[in-house]
Amino acid sequence: MTPDIKPLVAGNWKMNGQRDQLDQLALMSKGADAELSQKLDMVVCPPATLLYVATALAEDTGLHVGAQDCHANASGAHTGDVSAEMIADCLAEYCIVGHSERRTDHNESDSDVRSKAQACWRAGLTAIICIGETEAQYDAGQAEAVLSAQLQASVPEGATDQNTIIAYEPVWAIGTGKTPSPEDIEAIHAFLRNELVERLQGPGERMRLLYGGSVKPSNAAELLMINNVDGALVGGASLKAEDLLSICEVYRKV
Ligand code: PGA
Repeated sequence: MTPDIKPLVAGNWKMNGQRDQLDQLALMSKGADAELSQKLDMVVCPPATLLYVATALAEDTGLHVGAQDCHANASGAHTGDVSAEMIADCLAEYCIVGHSERRTDHNESDSDVRSKAQACWRAGLTAIICIGETEAQYDAGQAEAVLSAQLQASVPEGATDQNTIIAYEPVWAIGTGKTPSPEDIEAIHAFLRNELVERLQGPGERMRLLYGGSVKPSNAAELLMINNVDGALVGGASLKAEDLLSICEVYRKV
């Protein structure tokens, strides 16, 4: 945690979730009670097909809704794509950009991610910008250099603690059950905090720095209490309300 930063836990459903999982969203809305919502911002990012119904279910509750990706343009001839404006029109408030699965499956570059983050801001969404090193880069001791370059190139000028959240997700920790040691996470997050402060000054001090990669109820307490870890981006464990809520509960008593 960082003093004076309200943590945020975002669930990323990826390409999972049909109407029969809407009951999980309803349970999450119910679990995001007033006391818990004071302690953290709880966000769920279902697939685009469920966005509008998700915001309806979350209305007037402590649950917030985000999307998983957006196109850089507001509209036009881009078959199959969804714009940040469309996401905002569904009443969602957040959008993940630059997830490593997008970077890999769709060859998204840092400059694509940067444009998407700008699109989010244009539509009034908060961008959750993901960065992360591969296992080979980690083993070669290149994590900091890789992350610094990604941060520099993916985060647009004008980023503030209001319009941007950074998610550090080691690629090798996503969906694998593996996580870096708490000491490693602390060192990387301290490094990222320094980079943000150097570049953005005050807003860099206040910007939320999430950890993502195999966060689950059993390791949440340990991971979320690390210095400069201001919440989590949760994949697999966010599909069940019980698991996502149990991760969020870590904040109730702090
Ligand atoms: P995981 O995914 O929690 O299933 O490892 C995290 C993510 O990809 O955001």
